[in-house]
Amino acid sequence: MKSVLSERKALHPPSIDDIEHRELPGTAAQALRDLAAEIARTVARSSADAAEFLADPALLAQIGARAGDLPAAVHTAVRPPATAAGACIVRGLPLSDSEIGPTPPDWQSAARWSADPGRTRGSFELDIAMLLLAAAAGEPFGWAGQQDGRLVNNIIPAAGHEFEQSGASSTVLLSPHTEDAFHPLRANMLMLACLRNLDSVGTTVSSVRRVRLPRPQQDILRTPTLPILPDVSYGSAFERAEAVPVPTLWSEPGHEDDPGSLTLRFDPAYTPLGDAGPEFREAYAQLERELERVCAVPALRRGELLLLDNDVAVHGRVPFTPRYDGTDRWLKRVNIRLPERPRRAAESRENGYGQQIVAPFAPMPPRPAVSVREAREERNGAVDDRGSIGHT
Ligand SMILES: [Fe+2]
Repeated sequence: MKSVLSERKALHPPSIDDIEHRELPGTAAQALRDLAAEIARTVARSSADAAEFLADPALLAQIGARAGDLPAAVHTAVRPPATAAGACIVRGLPLSDSEIGPTPPDWQSAARWSADPGRTRGSFELDIAMLLLAAAAGEPFGWAGQQDGRLVNNIIPAAGHEFEQSGASSTVLLSPHTEDAFHPLRANMLMLACLRNLDSVGTTVSSVRRVRLPRPQQDILRTPTLPILPDVSYGSAFERAEAVPVPTLWSEPGHEDDPGSLTLRFDPAYTPLGDAGPEFREAYAQLERELERVCAVPALRRGELLLLDNDVAVHGRVPFTPRYDGTDRWLKRVNIRLPERPRRAAESRENGYGQQIVAPFAPMPPRPAVSVREAREERNGAVDDRGSIGHT
């Protein structure tokens, strides 16, 4: 699938002034880091479940119980993006280059190094800090089929994956997409933390609330026409017969004329556009062009968080040249469910192609979820690609 974003964006990123910025006050940010460090000390770091898989029940219980103790300023900073941009950047998380150590060669190494008592604690403590932030914002969750069910995913370029549509890629443009668009339990919000980005590699962000589409084309895209299929990370064993047409655009009933309520579910790389008629394809192509027109390309810096509204904005990444010398771009990502956020009722009848979430913070999982341990056993070292490495 050809990207909607032209390569020139990599060379001439537009202004990002229109993306909301928030500052985490110094005292609040330090309180967060201190609490994460305290929790990290109380769990046995040598325990693989605690550190490598973030699955220790005592660890998760502490995070769930103590996220509410964070200063009000922290909760305010991680509320969902408030503008039509569908994204915001939170600045002020204290994070030094030395405490995180070199960028690992892949997400598996990142997970192992977090659990290694002989290595710096920064990555592990940041995982805990991100889960605290995510728990303050909503309900963090993972996918059984992604990065062994880990609740915090590492986004790192990996040798041999340069040309994939995946977070491990680098030299190709990562096409704009809704994260896990194929699944009814996809995140409402993504939290990306930047640990290192020396080359100022841009993350692309395009909000559907900034596009201009004629009403007839909007109506075409509101009509369930095509399915969105699982990306290759989930294997190919699913039955195509399970595929359910979904709308590309959606607003809550009664709010169809309110541009501030428009949401999208968009992943052209996994949408069989050839199965649709010319009117739908043209409307879809016009949406792609508009998403390119309104695209912002923030280049995250160490200690910055990018909050992405996954119902409002699509995201991707511009190409870059990896060095594989321990200094490459390194992000961490958490999926967050916002329980108060409405979704289309018909989505509750979708089966998600059998993919399950790992949701230890959900009081009542909306459908059967698996534990981190079960996810790991089920996964059993399967090959990773776009989703499991985590595309960003
Ligand atoms: Fe992504």
